[in-house]
Amino acid sequence: MCGIIGLIGDVDAREANGEPGPSVGDVVHQGLANLEYRGYDSAGIALVDTADGLTVAKQSGQVDELAVPELDAVTHGIGHTRWSTHGPPTDANAHPHTDCAGDVAVVHNGIVENYETLKNDLEAAGHTFTSDTDTEVIPHLIEDALATDPDADLLDAVRRVETQLAGSYAICAVREGDDRIVVARRGSPLVIGRGTDASFVASDVTAFLEHTREVTYLEDGDVAALNAGRVQVFHGGEPVDRGVETVEWEADAAEKGGYDHYMRKEIHEQPESLRQTLAGRLDVESGDVDLDVSFPPGVLADVEEIQIVACGTSYYAGRYAAQLFETFAGVRATVEIASEYAFGAGRTPDRTLVVAVTQSGETADTLGAVRRANAAGARTLAVTNTVGSTVTRETDTTAYIRAGPEIGVAATKTFASQVATLAMLAVLFGRDRGALGAADARSVLEDLRGLPGAVQQVLDEEEAVREAAREYGDSEAFFFIGRALGVPVALEGALKLKEISYDHAEGFTAGELKHGPLALVTSETPVLAVLTEGADAGETMNNVTEAQTRGAPALGCVSAGEAYGTLDVSFSVPNVGVVEPLVANVYLQLFAYHVANAKGRAIDKPRNLAKSVTVE
Ligand code: F6R
Repeated sequence: MCGIIGLIGDVDAREANGEPGPSVGDVVHQGLANLEYRGYDSAGIALVDTADGLTVAKQSGQVDELAVPELDAVTHGIGHTRWSTHGPPTDANAHPHTDCAGDVAVVHNGIVENYETLKNDLEAAGHTFTSDTDTEVIPHLIEDALATDPDADLLDAVRRVETQLAGSYAICAVREGDDRIVVARRGSPLVIGRGTDASFVASDVTAFLEHTREVTYLEDGDVAALNAGRVQVFHGGEPVDRGVETVEWEADAAEKGGYDHYMRKEIHEQPESLRQTLAGRLDVESGDVDLDVSFPPGVLADVEEIQIVACGTSYYAGRYAAQLFETFAGVRATVEIASEYAFGAGRTPDRTLVVAVTQSGETADTLGAVRRANAAGARTLAVTNTVGSTVTRETDTTAYIRAGPEIGVAATKTFASQVATLAMLAVLFGRDRGALGAADARSVLEDLRGLPGAVQQVLDEEEAVREAAREYGDSEAFFFIGRALGVPVALEGALKLKEISYDHAEGFTAGELKHGPLALVTSETPVLAVLTEGADAGETMNNVTEAQTRGAPALGCVSAGEAYGTLDVSFSVPNVGVVEPLVANVYLQLFAYHVANAKGRAIDKPRNLAKSVTVE
């Protein structure tokens, strides 16, 4: 998830005191600062100037470290703040990217799934690349389109290039000598701001809200040309009218997408973040997965044991994954809380793969475990959200979860993307080791492909969850239960509730309830159960009944098409096979959020907690 902005025209040019308004470069720079929450490992600007043509400034680091080029006659410009997905956060990988001649500059948010093929073709045709990014193919394709048709202008070229790209993108392009910004959108957000003498474009309205509240939202497949104060939108080559809306939010709320808290925004971002996680990695037809993990051929087949190390929510993602590794790949998989990890005697380091799961990539306990694994001589793999983080430097290879920045301290969308990434890894392992046949792999990949849509269906039920939170939110304690893949989800559900509401919440293996915890169950302790595919729902329901017999209200996340008439509240989970418990977790996230919100808790910054725990 990156942030992009473009501006053409004069901002506040008619100030009462007659002084000129701020320069295009300064407004673009400020817009980037407003968007920095979308990603912040590098930033860049391209300015078009009637005297000097196209000037690009870009570098790794934060937006405030970027110096805006001082130019006299700038008419328009584009900018980008990056959250790396392809290639580390270096100066060369920062956007904007340019063509060979340096006449065209492009900023991009999203992932070009077919960039490798496009890059190979472009290189074969003589184009030279200077970065590791997927984005760089776009200015070269534009250059190619302009060279192929001498009558074509920037708008024609972007229209043509747009049909060549697979994946998701929001693009802004400028060209020396062309007095427009041309933009295109498919799968990544893009909104146009309509000023009197200026037009803006950005990933979201936060970027330019101080200048205009009149906006036009682009739709997938739209291409638009922006002049100062004039905007033309096209779809399928035909002009379309997308209307103009007025934004009512204040800047702070806009940054949270209109939500009261980042956590709720991030819960709602899960369909988009999961799409990014899965983009270009699933070949459903063949049952294969492409995760870019760089182990030499045969290494995965040779692994005897997988040890997953992680903390907190990432540990629960690991517990989910361990079951998938055993099922899909027939390999022994253990999960250890990172602070407790020691490479056990009697194990064979060079046939053990240690997988460190950490969204931040900086958790001291997890890094400590990685160092112990490295010292023992094991192979190591990181699963993280943060390109260039310490864990990526200290492991042999990395699978990125691509969830975009998560600001709320409580992990939500990163948990979903961790599990999805690990599920792909488990399929990769299974295929490599010959343990997972193509037909079974196809079925798992189908379920993964259905994940973003299934999560959206759950989000659409938020009102029912809010209602349940209202009814049961003031209980004495909350118990979460599940079996099999439902166990990590029950544990994660309890962690989410306790950390943001400060209520007593615990997760149990459903079968264990009767071995002790049942003593805590009363009519004041609701039980929330995972009753889906992959979670042994029938047996779990027996344990729910045990709790209900002691007076506990029972809430269940139930596979669509199934019904348990005795539940007090039933939430329907779309049928997506082994990832159903992961979808059920979205109900538990919403439940935690609404219980905590009704109590007025500091949801995004719960007491005593930090987003990145860099001490052991
Ligand atoms: C809970 C939460 C924490 C983290 C844990 C590990 O909502 O966010 O439990 O999961 O501190 O953090 P990472 O994944 O950055 O290693």
